[in-house]
Amino acid sequence: MALRQKAPDVAQSYANRTLSARYPTDLIAWRSLKAHYRDEMRGRTLTALFSRDKERPARFSIEAADLLLDYSRNHVNASTRKLFVQLARQSDVPAAIEAMFNGETINATESRPVLHVALRSKLSDQVALETEGVREIWEVLARIEAFADAVHDGSIVGSTGKRLTDIVNIGIGGSDLGPVMAARALRPYWLDGMRFHSVSNVDGTQLADLQSELDPETTLVIVCSKTFTTLETMTNAAAARAWIVDRLGEEAVPDHFAAASTNHAAMDEFGIRPDFRFGFWDWVGGRYSIWSAVGLSLALVVGMPVFARLLTGGRQMDQHFRSAPLAENMPVMLAMLGIWYNNFFGAESHAVLPYDNRLERFPAYLQQLQMESSGKSVRADGKPVRCATGAVIWGEAGNNAQHSFYQLLHQGTRLIPVDFLLPVRSSGGVQAQQDLAAANCLAQAEALMDGFDEAGIEPYRRHSGNNPSSTILFGELTPETLGQLIALYEHKVFVEGVVWGIGSFDQWGVELGKRLASSMVAAVTGEGDYVGENPSTRALLEALRKRRS
Ligand code: F6P
Repeated sequence: MALRQKAPDVAQSYANRTLSARYPTDLIAWRSLKAHYRDEMRGRTLTALFSRDKERPARFSIEAADLLLDYSRNHVNASTRKLFVQLARQSDVPAAIEAMFNGETINATESRPVLHVALRSKLSDQVALETEGVREIWEVLARIEAFADAVHDGSIVGSTGKRLTDIVNIGIGGSDLGPVMAARALRPYWLDGMRFHSVSNVDGTQLADLQSELDPETTLVIVCSKTFTTLETMTNAAAARAWIVDRLGEEAVPDHFAAASTNHAAMDEFGIRPDFRFGFWDWVGGRYSIWSAVGLSLALVVGMPVFARLLTGGRQMDQHFRSAPLAENMPVMLAMLGIWYNNFFGAESHAVLPYDNRLERFPAYLQQLQMESSGKSVRADGKPVRCATGAVIWGEAGNNAQHSFYQLLHQGTRLIPVDFLLPVRSSGGVQAQQDLAAANCLAQAEALMDGFDEAGIEPYRRHSGNNPSSTILFGELTPETLGQLIALYEHKVFVEGVVWGIGSFDQWGVELGKRLASSMVAAVTGEGDYVGENPSTRALLEALRKRRS
């Protein structure tokens, strides 16, 4: 796909400049933040910050599209925010944002631009692709729409003439988490009679469970894989194919399989018919791919108009990110807070706690987004980083989590900053119960901040408080707000990576394990010898093989 001509001063481009960029720890703003932390903020509680300034919620909040970020319950004051902005500026964040939207090669190790933003853009947004390129995106979207419509109105049916109602997405990582998370989040938008299922894990259990509940005649399998070579996905796709062949015959395969991939030759080989395959491009990273044909299974279940609303939500956040001043830029502020706790307060992890159960897979989605992007110890210039990078991201639907791990948030020994995601209105139509969820969310944020202590109270009842949290409030979980939330965190991760000087868009750390696993298979089954030298692996293989037989 054509990229717009780069500006002639490409040597001065952001992508080139990062190669000689300074370490963040050498920046004046970083040093000032260090001093600010040590001299002003370390010893100051959140309660003290509020008693000095009752207007904090208004002063420390940002609105973007339908989201309100209230970050007043964080260890920040006006000086902190100024320093955040300085750090963003000195780290060239504005130039980096433009470099991404302009299609510069910011994924250096894979020599690619990073253009998931193009997938949700309009021509007038001037995202890097040539008009021709943007047309290709729209062509694929239009083909997905026609395909989904045809499945819904019965012009495309299974091999025995029955309607296709059960969509099974087979993929892993970004080719699974996005569709799965979004399909759950958008459950009220599922079209009548359509059902979403997913298979990701290589162990075969998901497909085995599904086979007992699904009718192959009404099942459409989407093989979703950017590369179409991923072991887990290809294994599961082959198993699903064998199931269809066994139940409906070889000739049924073309009617029961569709695919999203960049690898057309492999789709050919699998037997995916040309009109059932949907392409995307190498500049769409796996964990940023929900906006592309990777969303095919989702579009089939919710319909293209709803999918288009998800894209609109993403675009709304892009527009904010690209145009809002740094101090009022929601993704930038979330990133700075992440850096503040990670690099200055020494926090190791960050919890994301949604108060709509339909967002229960959102933390898992963010784990890949943030930890695959920011789990780096080498900078984009190949030198070791000199500061901590990506935090451990974790979370769970908030109300459930209150009855499991919140104990540690309230009375444990670790600093764990929290993002609460709080919709005002119920996505399930039971407002009285959503009000209970909201009451719980607000109560938890308050308890984390204020703690609890009284004269004579037993130590085990004490809550030290002073735990920071941000609340992202929005009207209701809709396709638009979901799109905004996803794009918000995508951009947050990007900004963190720019400041740390790391390449956020590759994932070399997953390759070694993949390679070792493929050479381990024969050793596990006993068909070959273990070729490695690790004594622990050798012992475990022996124990495994003994028990296997
Ligand atoms: O193993 C990590 C990874 O490369 C992810 O980045 C990606 O989302 C996933 O595997 C799946 O890759 P593919 O879509 O090519 O099957």
